[in-house]
Amino acid sequence: MSERPYVIDQMISAKAIAARIETLCDEIQDEFAGTDKLVVVGLLRGSFVFIADLVRELNLPIEVDFLEASSYGDGMESSREVRILKDLRGAIEGRDVLVVEDIVDTGFTMQHVIRLLKGRKPSKLRTIALLDKPSRREVEVKADWTGFEIPDEFVVGYGIDYAQRNRNLPYIGKVRFT
Ligand code: IMP
Ligand code: MG
Repeated sequence: MSERPYVIDQMISAKAIAARIETLCDEIQDEFAGTDKLVVVGLLRGSFVFIADLVRELNLPIEVDFLEASSYGDGMESSREVRILKDLRGAIEGRDVLVVEDIVDTGFTMQHVIRLLKGRKPSKLRTIALLDKPSRREVEVKADWTGFEIPDEFVVGYGIDYAQRNRNLPYIGKVRFT
């Protein structure tokens, strides 16, 4: 896609993200204390950095699996139609599951994934999103844990892309067109 020139302004530092993850993991550990083996499900691709940091802070027996849902394509607007591009490898019936998302924006992706996975009868299903843009919500859904609430800005970094770029930035930055 043709890109307008832009710069990236830092919004959340790597240090702030790491500190927040420590707190979140304490809460997640309390919630899942005594679990046999938690299935941590990362939504590809945006959550890959977040899930990597999250699981290394989690002192619980876990498995990791991935699900790829697509609603954005390469643009900046949700298509509102969620497709599953890659399904889980493992069964989750009777298991404790934590879904890890990068951003809850309109809410369509999270709503779709929750419905899909609930249909598979996990014993417990919880959700965590690194970022939440509540002002953009179109369907009523909220993650059980949220890293940071942010305003209606297009962000990149820490796994999150704009047209597939900038996923490797260690911090969250906002895209500003110049
Ligand atoms: P939703 O279905 O509208 O809630 O969109 C969720 C997905 O849109 C997220 O998992 C992201 O992949 C993508 N998304 C939402 N906001 C942004 C953003 O600011 N930057 C990059 N991707 C975003
Ligand atoms: Mg995503």
